[in-house]
Amino acid sequence: MTAHKSATPQTHRHLLDISSLTNEDILTILRVAARLKRQTAERINLSAYPCLLLFEEPSTRTHLSFWRACHQLNIPTTSLNTQWSSLAKGETWHDTIQTLEALGFRFLVVRSPQKYFPHQLAQFTRTLHIINAGDGDHAHPTQALLDAFTLLEIWHTLKDKTIGILGDIRHARVAHSDIHLFLRLGARVLVAGPTEWLPNNLPPSVIRVSSIEKLVAQADALIVLRVQKERFTQSETLDLTTYRQHWMLRTAHIEALPPDRQPWLMHPGPMNPGIEIEPELPYRYPRSLILRQVENGIYVRMGVFLWMTAPTLWQEHGWLLRTLLP
Ligand code: CP
Repeated sequence: MTAHKSATPQTHRHLLDISSLTNEDILTILRVAARLKRQTAERINLSAYPCLLLFEEPSTRTHLSFWRACHQLNIPTTSLNTQWSSLAKGETWHDTIQTLEALGFRFLVVRSPQKYFPHQLAQFTRTLHIINAGDGDHAHPTQALLDAFTLLEIWHTLKDKTIGILGDIRHARVAHSDIHLFLRLGARVLVAGPTEWLPNNLPPSVIRVSSIEKLVAQADALIVLRVQKERFTQSETLDLTTYRQHWMLRTAHIEALPPDRQPWLMHPGPMNPGIEIEPELPYRYPRSLILRQVENGIYVRMGVFLWMTAPTLWQEHGWLLRTLLP
């Protein structure tokens, strides 16, 4: 990992994107998550840190795995539907944040269609810890952390591993966070997909590959992405027949390789079988990690909660953290 420090060390911690984390932060979250997966968390009690889950876009795994992570750590948890909140009556986000603070919430997990929305909310608060659960096409840092965690369970290091990312890179916040984290952890990153969906502003070390066959042949792990139609601009269209023909991952692509060269398969979900991936492949392929990613999301999000509160908890529960941190 190359050295990387945030410009200002955070005493009050948020998780807004991968670039806001130091290498030490990343390793702490991943190590705590690994420890929590091996041992029960029943002695951990964060009941003094109520959490609000605020999702302005659909979600199954992120919403529910944050909820499960809260439950495991004894964090009181509530979801807010903004359409039924006073935001619908004209209350500003600034006033909403002040209200959440007065109500005693300490964590705010937010998913928004708007880029950098969690960053804006972080400007309004002194006591809430803001966690970005996906902002527009910008970032999805907890997904990247759980993706790295899942690969580290297999390999123990990402150094010199080749990770291929396939499909709609442009609109995928998961891809943007994954790329930054995988490069930080020393992996080689390849991307492939329709030219118009490979953005110009990818980090220079990311390698563009011209076909799905070349990507699959080089990748130690392959991350397949959903086509994010909800983020298309008015001028963007999808020719499904052409997309399937050129970019849908099929069993035949994998079986063209010798068994010891076949890649680990990942997908952040939700999947659209028959568009970006052949139906049945995710559940039939022995090297599919897709459901393990979902399970690991709980432990990684527990790790995030503990990392965020660690400076305070260290004074209150130093004994506990000493048992979790290596
Ligand atoms: N990976 C992911 O963000 O899935 P959900 O949209 O179901 O939360």
